[in-house]
Amino acid sequence: MKEMLEKIREQAERQIEAATSPETLDEIRVSVLGKKGELTQILKGMKDVAPEDRPKVGQMVNSVRDVLEEALAEQKKILKSAVIEKKMQNEWLDVTRPGTRAMRGHKHPNQIALEDLERVFIGMGYEVVEGPEIEYDRMNFKLLNIPEDHPAKDEQDTFYIQRHDESKGETTEDDIVLRTQTSSVQARVMLAAGKLKETSKGFPERNLPIKLISPGRVFRSDEVDATHSPSFHQVEGLVIGENVTMADLKGTLDQFAKEFFGPDTKTKLRPHHFPFTEPSAEVDVTCFKCHGTGRVKKMEEVKEGGKLVRREVDCACTACKSSGWIEILGCGMVHPDVLEMCGINDSSDPDAPVYTGFAFGIGLERVALLKYEIADMRLLYENDIRFLEQF
Ligand code: DAH
Repeated sequence: MKEMLEKIREQAERQIEAATSPETLDEIRVSVLGKKGELTQILKGMKDVAPEDRPKVGQMVNSVRDVLEEALAEQKKILKSAVIEKKMQNEWLDVTRPGTRAMRGHKHPNQIALEDLERVFIGMGYEVVEGPEIEYDRMNFKLLNIPEDHPAKDEQDTFYIQRHDESKGETTEDDIVLRTQTSSVQARVMLAAGKLKETSKGFPERNLPIKLISPGRVFRSDEVDATHSPSFHQVEGLVIGENVTMADLKGTLDQFAKEFFGPDTKTKLRPHHFPFTEPSAEVDVTCFKCHGTGRVKKMEEVKEGGKLVRREVDCACTACKSSGWIEILGCGMVHPDVLEMCGINDSSDPDAPVYTGFAFGIGLERVALLKYEIADMRLLYENDIRFLEQF
């Protein structure tokens, strides 16, 4: 009996040691220690053992069982750690490795300029109002004192939109346009605030005074070059109230220029003509590059005694074509006829209050190009990441 038990133990131990998976271990357990296992069979056969030998045999069986159970547990542990080891080898992750950075987008120079511009005007108490890009001829031209045959309509190289009326079988041409100027928003806002209380989508009835800027896209049938594009952006300004004067306009634009281009910037109003303002002016700012002197110092390689040396030379400023000034916007006092047509003033009523106001229109690309010293407007539309990344 003893030898038999020893044999079972030895054989099982060998099997356990050779087992490479938990399943094999389970099979060994069942075949030796299970209900029908070899050891269990021996216990079941106890009745054939002499009664005096039974305790001894029982003890031997139990000790073999203990040894095998321990061996099984031990091998299980070894297998488990081998599995973990393998997993660690296959699934390692170097947490100290520098990560791959996700590419971050950049704000477009136009957007940076617009946010900066809005910051300045919001700081002065202006609201920001946006109008439609597809506009009635009436808002874009007529109400702004630009009648049917006005040469300014040619100047603005307008894109007209055909409107087809199915029911009448009619195609009308000239009453809808891609707006050529954000000045159209002036008309919409004044109509909603004036006596006419003419409202439109996005322009609910409102009260005077008006103090707003209106940024947005405008369209002209222009050829693309370094300073022209068929689609660009403007920022309109409009202030209407009691006793608004040219001095307010001048002060406002001066403040804007100082905040936008730098505190030492000076402004100059040059008489000009716009149909919807009287008097009208164009505003120049002192050149940001030469600070109004028209001259700049540049490092250049020059020949001296047969040698090339780098020296500071005095050159004409290219940013302002050495004039010291750069034109940035058009402006003026809102024309009395415009105030009348849009229902702000009523000259037929001697008791009606009389309002005045000023307006201005800034070319967004123009100020962005100036501020960030970009030589060609086309760069703003190409969206080349190598260009955009610089801002
Ligand atoms: N709308 C004009 C243009 O596109 C710019 C302009 C000039 C706007 C004078 C104004 C203004 O509000 O008062 O050329």
